[in-house]
Amino acid sequence: MPFSAEYLQELSERNPIEEVVGEYVPLTKRSGQNLFGLCPFHSEKTPSFSVSPGKGIYHCFGCGKGGSVINFIMEIERLSFPEAVEFLARRAGMPLPEREADPSRPKRERLLALNREAARFFYSQLSTPGGEAAREYMRRRRISQRTATNFGLGFAPESWDALTLAMKAAGYTERELYDAGLVKRGRRGGVYDAFRNRLMFPVIDVRGNVVAFSGRVLGDGEPKYLNSPDTPVFSKSHNLFGLNLAKKSIAGYIILVEGNIDVVSLHQAGFDSAVASLGTSLTAEQARLLSRYAKQVVLCYDADAAGRKASQRAIPILEKLELAVRVVTVPGSKDPDEFIKASGAEAFRALIEDSENGVEYRLQAAASGYDLNSDSGKVGYLKEAAQILSALPDPVAREVYSMRVAEQCSVAEDAVRDAVKQAYRRRAATARRRQERMDTRAEQMAQPRDLGIRYSDPRSAAAEEGVISLLQASPELFRGGAGPKPESFTSPELRHIYESMLSLIERGLDVGAAALGETLSLEETNLYTRIAQRPVSAANARAALADYIKRIGAAPRSAEDVDLNAFAKAKQETKGYGGDSHG
Ligand code: GTP
Ligand code: MN
Repeated sequence: MPFSAEYLQELSERNPIEEVVGEYVPLTKRSGQNLFGLCPFHSEKTPSFSVSPGKGIYHCFGCGKGGSVINFIMEIERLSFPEAVEFLARRAGMPLPEREADPSRPKRERLLALNREAARFFYSQLSTPGGEAAREYMRRRRISQRTATNFGLGFAPESWDALTLAMKAAGYTERELYDAGLVKRGRRGGVYDAFRNRLMFPVIDVRGNVVAFSGRVLGDGEPKYLNSPDTPVFSKSHNLFGLNLAKKSIAGYIILVEGNIDVVSLHQAGFDSAVASLGTSLTAEQARLLSRYAKQVVLCYDADAAGRKASQRAIPILEKLELAVRVVTVPGSKDPDEFIKASGAEAFRALIEDSENGVEYRLQAAASGYDLNSDSGKVGYLKEAAQILSALPDPVAREVYSMRVAEQCSVAEDAVRDAVKQAYRRRAATARRRQERMDTRAEQMAQPRDLGIRYSDPRSAAAEEGVISLLQASPELFRGGAGPKPESFTSPELRHIYESMLSLIERGLDVGAAALGETLSLEETNLYTRIAQRPVSAANARAALADYIKRIGAAPRSAEDVDLNAFAKAKQETKGYGGDSHG
């Protein structure tokens, strides 16, 4: 359901971009009106991420990402457009125009609010005298206070009704507690707390809602974990523990582990992209969810037979979604948590890096396709293995694995080494040719290639970009059809941006990335912000416009192209809008 431009405009006004971005990125004023900070979307040491409060946009000069406050939330919270709108509406206390039609909404909202309240309750219990056992357990597992806060960990007291009483006092009914899976029904019809004397892990979805809980016994005991049942707001097979945090990681890969404790421990050690499936083996839905946030997955399941089997099951599910899978096994430890505690974060990072090409896994997969006892099987495998090894950038790794392959098929090491060298040379030659071809395409330099956009006529496109930045800076110049006709644009993307801007202006609205975000694709929005943030001199704007029109080879728009009545009418309608009738 589309949102009206008016609604989006109000949304962005009520969520000032510098405030929203400032909640994620420390911003400083450097010069002029813009604020600067370190880009949250790629790693950098000097700030190239700018926020323009006046224009309502952000733009990174380093990685090229940019857009409105809505795009920012889409990008950093990894939400779709409507989800980001909802997120910001909630932040500003604005009602959502369209979802009110959903009859199950109020009930879901209640359950989510209840879960959040329960998470707060569990969290507060951690610092009570009764929470000492949980604090002691966390110390034993070396979970820091900071990590506990980051995950919102809590403690369910050893009581049959502590949570029930607290939630009832907060206005929730037994029925709601039951529907949320927080209580069980007793024999005589009453209810009692489902989680007692447990370390509580809230399960938080990608939109930031607390949807369920996982409770671990403090020490040994059965069952080790107690998980919320499926409820109207939670489906175990569609959620991953830790994804609310991991989705913000810029690691480029997701680390998939088995246990909640592994997730917590990895995040604490700096691996902020670790997640766990919630005590189930990985489902296709969970894999699809993951694929929204990274194209690579590092599988690091427990080192026992069950973990190996779980990896083997997970790999095809992930590969089906074109995720690159790497497998890490922790030597000498039962799980990643134990490994990190015994060997440290750097050792774990080395394991991930070693797995980078999935060498062992891929060699094994290749070998399984051949009968290594036959000569023809050996030849086939050696060829394939040489291909795999030649892709390793590290010469030592190439050498070491060559030796292993030689041993595996009992052939001379030199034979393998030569085959790898040959494959390596072929690969290097191909790469060199590709590089040369790219270098010679000098005219491509002006192309917004990083956005997947290619201008067919770069010269005209430069002028089309100029028109757009003028329209942004001085819309009054375009009144009465003074700009070029959109049809004369050579780039469909620039034309779409231009048309969308004109349509806003003709309806009397401000041109802003927020209002445009609805009609433009993400790439186009990026392109738009890149153009809009360029400084424009107002002094010779009129002359510049004439020049651009000439370069595009366009006739100016005539008065008939502009529906002046619609223009005036839209302006009327927007007048009374934006009051405080909401909320
Ligand atoms: P530690 O043994 O403390 O390292 O715990 P862990 O978090 O690493 O869990 P473990 O590897 O033993 O189990 C993996 C996951 O399976 C857990 O995080 C739970 O989600 C789930 N799980 C484990 N035990 C149980 C259980 O008894 N019942 C249920 N429902 N799930 C469990
Ligand atoms: Mn474990």
